[in-house]
Amino acid sequence: MKGFQRKDLVSIDSLSKDEILMILDTADSMKQILRRDRKKVPPLQGKTAVMLFIEASTRTRTSFELAAKRLSADTISLTPDASSLTKGETLFDTVKNLEAMQVDYVVLRHPQSGAAERLAKQVDASVVNAGDGWHEHPTQALLDLMTIRERFQKFDGLNVLIVGDIAHSRVARSNIYGLNKLGAKVMVAGPGTLIPPGLTGDSEYPVEVYNRLEDALPKADVIMMLRIQLERIGQSLFPSEGEYARFFGLNAARLKLAKNHAIVMHPGPVNRGLEIASDVVDGSSSVILPQVENGVATRMAVLYLLNRSPEAIRGDA
Ligand code: CP
Repeated sequence: MKGFQRKDLVSIDSLSKDEILMILDTADSMKQILRRDRKKVPPLQGKTAVMLFIEASTRTRTSFELAAKRLSADTISLTPDASSLTKGETLFDTVKNLEAMQVDYVVLRHPQSGAAERLAKQVDASVVNAGDGWHEHPTQALLDLMTIRERFQKFDGLNVLIVGDIAHSRVARSNIYGLNKLGAKVMVAGPGTLIPPGLTGDSEYPVEVYNRLEDALPKADVIMMLRIQLERIGQSLFPSEGEYARFFGLNAARLKLAKNHAIVMHPGPVNRGLEIASDVVDGSSSVILPQVENGVATRMAVLYLLNRSPEAIRGDA
């Protein structure tokens, strides 16, 4: 494979295995830069990146902004309440106006599934999906893949268990795509109401479904806990938070069922005591903070590769 040939990053589904590995290899190099005393390098000097977050975010927004700054880009952060989106302007018009100011990247978080892909087709700027509805969160999956590879140096033969609200999780979807492309086996566990119907072993992205966490844990090398999205689930899809924690929460006793080398991941923000107990969040198996560190390196890699791609040259898109 010659180079990264894309203007945008909107999904893991659309990436090849080679493209994913190229991002992970580049992220490894970026991490070396981030661990230096002087962390700033020049590749995006003269470029401008806008962070357009229509939904709340701590990790993704901060790490994209930091990533762009580390690569010497200028950055601007826009939130819906501080933009003309509140006055009825469409997302398309907002971004066309930003482009008129010669913006090169739009990092978009949006509550609607497909928003990033639609926008990417309409504008010349490089669009990076920072999470769109229930669809995908590609850079979260990339930083998760980087963290898994750092621990195990491989994907073949690994069993990755994703636990929780699979149906409404863009993190789960992007990881299911990425892990399958790289050769890991994916298992999911959660209440039946939070597992999408039709999630079978026959698809392009096979998963094994478990209704009891205890049945899946002994097989897992990686345990990826998902946040219960209390703000996104309009009606209760499980009897109570206490009931959820009792059957699907990861606590120290349950973690003992897993392999000794198993690592615990969580994309954040964490609901301590709901999907994961505090002592597991802070315990020796947890790689939750290394995931956050890898988020900056991964997002540097994505911005860097999109900038180098011939497809990113304005007018070729
Ligand atoms: N993991 C993640 O997307 O976190 P934020 O919502 O804080 O960006």
